[in-house]
Order: sequence, then structure tokens, then C-alpha cells
Amino acid sequence: MNAIVLYYSYTGHTKKIAEKLAHTQGAELVEIHTKGRLGKLNAFVVQCPRAMMRKTAAIQPIAQDLNGYDMITLAGPVWASYPAPAFNAMIKLLPAGKNVQLLLVSGSGSGGTKKSEEGTKRLVKKQNCTVLAYKDLKG
Ligand SMILES: Cc1cc2nc3c(=O)[nH]c(=O)nc-3n(C[C@H](O)[C@H](O)[C@H](O)COP(=O)(O)O)c2cc1C
Repeated sequence: MNAIVLYYSYTGHTKKIAEKLAHTQGAELVEIHTKGRLGKLNAFVVQCPRAMMRKTAAIQPIAQDLNGYDMITLAGPVWASYPAPAFNAMIKLLPAGKNVQLLLVSGSGSGGTKKSEEGTKRLVKKQNCTVLAYKDLKG
């Protein structure tokens, strides 16, 4: 199976988890970067409300063509109880018809609320993809 793990990490926790997961799955690993540097004040004051509104962040393009993978894992941090805007941007990269695993990393390990989880799964389904797994991990 051709698997890929895409991850966004602001402070390095998701990065470590994604690296381990990719190693275990024998998957390719790709880090997603936002366009421009994201300061702490911006993250908390601007991006947290954006996370709650399910907005995306501007991210740098990736070299991989995701059409070529059978399993795509998206991993990223929880901000203000919702996936960080860069995570939402990764969802938008999904080609239709893919099997997807979602991995949210948070300080509490609760990954936000049930409402957050359901909304995130809905965004993936909107891309015409299937959510095979959803996990909340403590960073
Ligand atoms: C802007 C911001 C908002 C956060 N909001 C939450 C939150 O609502 N709930 C929570 O449990 N952790 C929250 N955290 C903690 C992160 O989710 C946690 O440290 C996670 O492991 C970070 O992943 P990363 O190191 O890959 O960026 C927040 C962190 C940041 C920077």
C-alpha cells in the first residue's frame, strides 16, 4: 500500500508523533509549512478564532501528487479546541476517493470537542473521501 503522512506542527509534538507513525506504516512523511512565519501572538489572537471558524491557513505547496497514494494520514495540533487552520488547509489538498486517517494532537489529549470531531470528519467527507480513523493524542 502506498501511504503518506502529511503533518503540520507548530511546536514539534505532532512532528514527533507523525515521524513515528510514518515509520511504523512505512509511509512517506511530508511536513506542511505555513506561508510566512507565524508568531505566538498571531497564533493565539488571530489563528485560534480562525480555527474555531474552520478557516484555512495559507500553506506552502507540496511536491507530492496525492492522487498516487492509497492511504493519506493528516496530523496536526488542536487550537482553541479545533484543528489548527493549517490542518484545515491540508484537508483541502485531499483528492476525491481517498481513504483518510485523522490525527489530532493537543495539550489535553481530548482533541477538542465532539462537535469539533464531527465537523472535521464532515470537512473530509466534503472532499469525497472516507475517514477510516480519527484519533486524539496528547502531545
Ligand atoms: C495557539 C494554540 C492553541 C492551543 N489550544 C489548545 C486547546 O484548545 N486545547 C488543548 O488541549 N491544547 C491546546 N494547545 C496545545 C497544543 O494543542 C499542544 O501543545 C499540541 O501538542 C501542539 O502540537 P504541535 O507541537 O505539533 O504544534 C494550543 C496550542 C497553541 C499554540
